[in-house]
Amino acid sequence: MNDPRGILILDFGGQYTQLIARRVRECGVYSAVLPYTASLDDVRDANPVGIILSGGPASVLDDGAPTIDPGIFSLGIPVLGICYGMQLMSHLLGGDIRRGEMREYGRTLVSMDETGHGLLQDLQPESTCWMSHTWQVVQPPCGFTITAHTPNCPVAALENEARALYGVQFHPEVTHTEEGMAVLRNFLFGICHAADDWNMEAYAEQAVQRIREQVGNGTVLLGLSGGVDSAVAAALLYRAIGNRLTCVYVDHGFMRAGESDQVVDIFTKTFPVELKAVDASERFFAALKGVTDPETKRKIIGREFVNVFKEASAQLGKRDHFAQGTIYPDVIESGSVKGSAVIKSHHNVGGLPGELGFTSLVEPLRMLFKDEVRRLGLTLGLPESLVYRQPFPGPGLAIRVIGELTPDKVRIVRESDRILREEIAASGIAASQYFTVLTGAKSVGVMGDERTYAYAVAIRAVATDDFMTADVVHLPYELLDRLSARIIGEVSGCNRVLYDVTTKPPASIEWE
Ligand code: XMP
Repeated sequence: MNDPRGILILDFGGQYTQLIARRVRECGVYSAVLPYTASLDDVRDANPVGIILSGGPASVLDDGAPTIDPGIFSLGIPVLGICYGMQLMSHLLGGDIRRGEMREYGRTLVSMDETGHGLLQDLQPESTCWMSHTWQVVQPPCGFTITAHTPNCPVAALENEARALYGVQFHPEVTHTEEGMAVLRNFLFGICHAADDWNMEAYAEQAVQRIREQVGNGTVLLGLSGGVDSAVAAALLYRAIGNRLTCVYVDHGFMRAGESDQVVDIFTKTFPVELKAVDASERFFAALKGVTDPETKRKIIGREFVNVFKEASAQLGKRDHFAQGTIYPDVIESGSVKGSAVIKSHHNVGGLPGELGFTSLVEPLRMLFKDEVRRLGLTLGLPESLVYRQPFPGPGLAIRVIGELTPDKVRIVRESDRILREEIAASGIAASQYFTVLTGAKSVGVMGDERTYAYAVAIRAVATDDFMTADVVHLPYELLDRLSARIIGEVSGCNRVLYDVTTKPPASIEWE
């Protein structure tokens, strides 16, 4: 972290550590995260302009609780302790920590007692903050003053201005803390005098350096899924190691209209890697013949995917390292922030890195949030049409066909989905996810003078932040009219269009 100089975050296992790093990046300041086990020399080597001690699940008075060398407070580098970080700083410097009478959790009104200078400069006298703690500082260390409190927490913030040591019991990195960014900015710019010249291009360059260090002269294999994350990882690896990157793209036959061609086009022209694109659709349809149960379909697709991937990489010959586009939310979901590799659930090549004898796993997006991955993709030169793709399930259109899969049914869902995407894009309506489903229901209709007996296609459009719950997007009737007319007119094999008006829960977003 010698160049540029930035903020070093020491991680005590808190669930928001990467969020702190992200907020620092949002301020245009470089940040690096090290585990709390980093030595004083590691910290000195990092040469940061400021240090943030993260929160964490432990209690500082527990046996074996995570701790640091107290010498860190005498380096002359400003330190901000957040939650556990503040308690640890107070404990190591002689303050008093006690279990609070009640747990403070959630949005809490905090009285800011010192807003004239320092960390809380120019904050409102009372400000809503996000709290999550049982233990608290009851007596600050010698030389410290209390700068904020709540009715239940006598020390909600403290400082030793002369030594540039600061602590907050609340979480400034969480959006529920209304003035959290102001607190972080005060620390970064007012106290640490950090430079705000860091950006995605700088991130890309640092990531390239890290990849080169990890890979050396070796070769790398990456599985392209057709999604955003693996494409951004591939573009980054291409910048780092050029033609020592090989990509395998398995087309299972369930991609949306135009997607396979776009992926192949980008990774042969813009980023000319060695690309093995396997059209395995016939094999997938054969394996799925007669299968109607959704879970069985998923299992078969997962199994075939691994088999095709293995065969393709065996044909290519040995590569040294295996790369994948794991992003930070995948890491959190696995519950293993510090731990082992996470293989994305869908194009699940789980076990493969080990089985195929790769020496290491390269995951250059592991610390980024989805919107940062998208910005990095644009920085690297990927087109917006790929970078801003809506989420798409790994098994693809296969789970949007109810009942047995046939190429003709997949054609109906693919073509109707293309029409829906065109119309939504033209209308400018914002939706988190929208698609069509081949419902499996057939009904009688009349077209021209002919009786028809054909499928009903359903339209689904939802708005959601986290995909755990979802609201229905209210598409205007005129748009629904046009969609119905276009889908029936342009896609043979369907004679009825339905509009799914069910929220999640009770329904899931996908049909299946
Ligand atoms: P549900 O249907 O469970 O979907 O409400 C929630 C979100 O997850 C996506 N989804 C998947 N994503 N692999 C993925 O990468 C999958 O197997 C998968 N299944 C569902 C779905 O599209 C929605 O965004």
